[in-house]
Amino acid sequence: MASGWGARALGQPGRLPAAVPAVLLLLLLLLRSPARAAHIKKAEATTTTTSAAPEAGEGQFDRYYHEEELGSALREAAAAGPPGLTRLFSIGNSVEGRPLWVLRLTAGLGPPLPDGDAGPDAAGPLLPGRPQVKLVGNMHGDETVSRQVLVYLARELAAGYRRGDPRLVRLLNTTDVYVLPSLNPDGFERAREGDCGFGDGGPPGPGGRDNSRGRDLNRSFPDQFSSGEPPALDDVPEVRALIDWIRRNK
Ligand SMILES: *[C@@H]1O[C@H](CO)[C@@H](O)[C@H](O)[C@H]1NC(C)=O
Ligand SMILES: *[C@@H]1O[C@H](CO)[C@@H](O)[C@H](O)[C@H]1NC(C)=O
Repeated sequence: MASGWGARALGQPGRLPAAVPAVLLLLLLLLRSPARAAHIKKAEATTTTTSAAPEAGEGQFDRYYHEEELGSALREAAAAGPPGLTRLFSIGNSVEGRPLWVLRLTAGLGPPLPDGDAGPDAAGPLLPGRPQVKLVGNMHGDETVSRQVLVYLARELAAGYRRGDPRLVRLLNTTDVYVLPSLNPDGFERAREGDCGFGDGGPPGPGGRDNSRGRDLNRSFPDQFSSGEPPALDDVPEVRALIDWIRRNK
């Protein structure tokens, strides 16, 4: 399975990543409703290059959220929904100890755990008969669009439910949505704009594609079609956390 893409399709600097998955294109379309597009335009028009607000505020679509800003952007997205709609938790940590944040969105969750725990238990119980959808972005640290789009999507889902958008209310009344914007937060912090994909096959490259132990997370899952040994997970705590979460939570 891991053959075609190993061939450095992302290797030429200046090329856009060819691999924005179809699902993310769909999400982009969803986000670019006329109202949203006007909103984005407005944000562009009113944001100056010197604005460096500490939090990722509503309407700031002009830059990436780094480090703790990702957590605060997700907390804000959660707060945009009514009580009982969202839960923010982490399924584990990256090699360098950054949390792997997940925002869960579905109606009827009840109040969060009282002690402010942010581990997997903070996700709350599964709701019988409600299908789960998990959206995972940024598993190559330098493929960054998905990371932002998923934060915007989470914010739009929560705010849309609160304002009574019939489509989003129906969706979150019947579907258990989990948004994990960044599976490779270490690679993301290492990535530099315009510097695409130098991380394969050597020490962690400046490109930020791999995790901090030089492993490509998208080549590190067991492959049902491969007859060889499944890849060891010791150097990919990000992948192990995702596998454990899915197994616990199916
Ligand atoms: C990620 O892995 C899947 C499964 O092997 C493959 O289909 C896909 O093209 C890969 N994407 C990238 C960007 O490597
Ligand atoms: C969504 O769920 C709420 C709470 O159970 C209910 O009041 C509302 O009618 C539901 N709306 C739709 C469109 O399913």
